[in-house]
Amino acid sequence: MAKPKTIFICNKCGAEFSQWFGKCANCDTYDSLVEENATPFGVDIPTKGGVGNWHVAPGGIKSSSKKPAKARASLTFDQISDRQIARWESGYGELDRVLGGGVVPGSMVLIGGDPGIGKSTLLLQVSNELSQRYRILYVTGEESGQQVKLRASRLGMSNPINVDSEADDTKKEAIKNTENNVENTEDDLAHHSIASDLYVLPETDLEEILREIDSLKPNLAVIDSIQTVFFPALTSAPGSVAQVRECTAALMKVAKHEDITMLIVGHVTKEGTIAGPRVLEHLVDTVLYFEGDRFASHRLLRTVKNRFGATHEIGIFEMVSNGLREVPNPSELFLGNRDDPAPGTAIVVACEGTRPIVVELQALVSPTSYTSPRRAGTGIDYNRLVQILAVLEKRVGIPMSKLDSYVASAGGLNVEEPAVDLGIAIAIVASFRDRIVDPGTVLIGEVGLGGQVRSVSQMELRLKEAAKLGFKRAIIPKGQKFPDLNIEILAVSKVIDAIIAAIPHQSLEDIDLETDEDEE
Ligand code: TYD
Ligand code: MG
Repeated sequence: MAKPKTIFICNKCGAEFSQWFGKCANCDTYDSLVEENATPFGVDIPTKGGVGNWHVAPGGIKSSSKKPAKARASLTFDQISDRQIARWESGYGELDRVLGGGVVPGSMVLIGGDPGIGKSTLLLQVSNELSQRYRILYVTGEESGQQVKLRASRLGMSNPINVDSEADDTKKEAIKNTENNVENTEDDLAHHSIASDLYVLPETDLEEILREIDSLKPNLAVIDSIQTVFFPALTSAPGSVAQVRECTAALMKVAKHEDITMLIVGHVTKEGTIAGPRVLEHLVDTVLYFEGDRFASHRLLRTVKNRFGATHEIGIFEMVSNGLREVPNPSELFLGNRDDPAPGTAIVVACEGTRPIVVELQALVSPTSYTSPRRAGTGIDYNRLVQILAVLEKRVGIPMSKLDSYVASAGGLNVEEPAVDLGIAIAIVASFRDRIVDPGTVLIGEVGLGGQVRSVSQMELRLKEAAKLGFKRAIIPKGQKFPDLNIEILAVSKVIDAIIAAIPHQSLEDIDLETDEDEE
């Protein structure tokens, strides 16, 4: 037998090389190549007794059936059934929103996020909800059955897990024993059916997982996490690029063939020793990121890729003592104490996908003790901050180059879109002057390099949200259309006009007009 060939795979992008390089030629990452055994593509490695009708092999999964495959006839749109369009409601509106209106049956969704952010919690809650109507298999490679059960009872799931109690083990055995007899499986399952249709499988071996999927025939399977799943025939360690890629590809094939919806957890690590879900993102239908400050309670579920809906949608949850709670009105989470406003704060309306969120921005400006001033932005784009500071120096005459400037969004929410520029500018000026911005005013607008206020997208959505939350006034770009709402509109064309309008008792004389620009 020929000596197994080794290849080098980039941990970051998954590119393959025949020799080791210090830098990946594909993605330019240093020291990211790892040595792995190359198994000839698509070899049909005999598996332990086979996985139902499937054989897993590196490079793909094959049907072991010797019968010739049925010809796949191409279809016209009329002939293709519309069934796919009927989405499932997950019981969590926030999740349905980021998925584009619910779970698409048969789709493969990857949920990425830092460890400890709440991925397992979210998926267990969703599994519990969906198990009222569908059969769910929750595969956990990170926790034991007892741990999952403990979490389930912490989440207040009334009739948690089926599989891990002793009695249920017997039932599962009974189900497993019928695995080769597909005809009877349904009957057996019905016979053994338990109130809730949620099954837990603590397992990391891909073959065992596929076997269980084949015998249980769930409507939906959760894999928590893909980094723990391994295929024994591949010599590389679980979590390596090759393992992650092959396991996902195998699961994908089964999912598409058997019409099983899959929710897959993927860890993201900063070190890059574990394959990040980047490699997976190409394979799956939908990629969601679960993010948030581990020290703050809110969590954002963000769409990065979606074959069945829009990207850049967000869903907002809050981690409380009994799990994740939906936040139906997120703006309240990101607004400071409006009864007692502090100098240097301004309210903006950011849009995440189609979702407007009213956020408080805080600025702190103070004389610098360094030769070059310190500038930092939390939750806002640093380059935009620097640009706005330059505009304020040149067009408004504030000596920003002699001042340290710090700007942060409340709750650390990322608001990196141009529409918050005006709010950043106003917050900085208010901090510089130690004034309070009228707390009933929201600021919407992009700041141009010439000090002009430019139009932004989705103005109607933003104004509606501000009006809904009781804001009295909005300062918006001149010339932009706005709907008739219960909110006073003040259209401005220059940053300086916005400053005068937003900061009470602020007159032009108060501002050091060092430039020869005549802003009036
Ligand atoms: P987990 O879902 O295990 O994170 P992940 O799967 O993304 O690694 O979430 C773990 C964190 O959530 C942990 O720090 C504790 C916290 N938590 C709560 O605050 N309340 C709860 O009800 C649960 C189940 C977890
Ligand atoms: Mg987890």
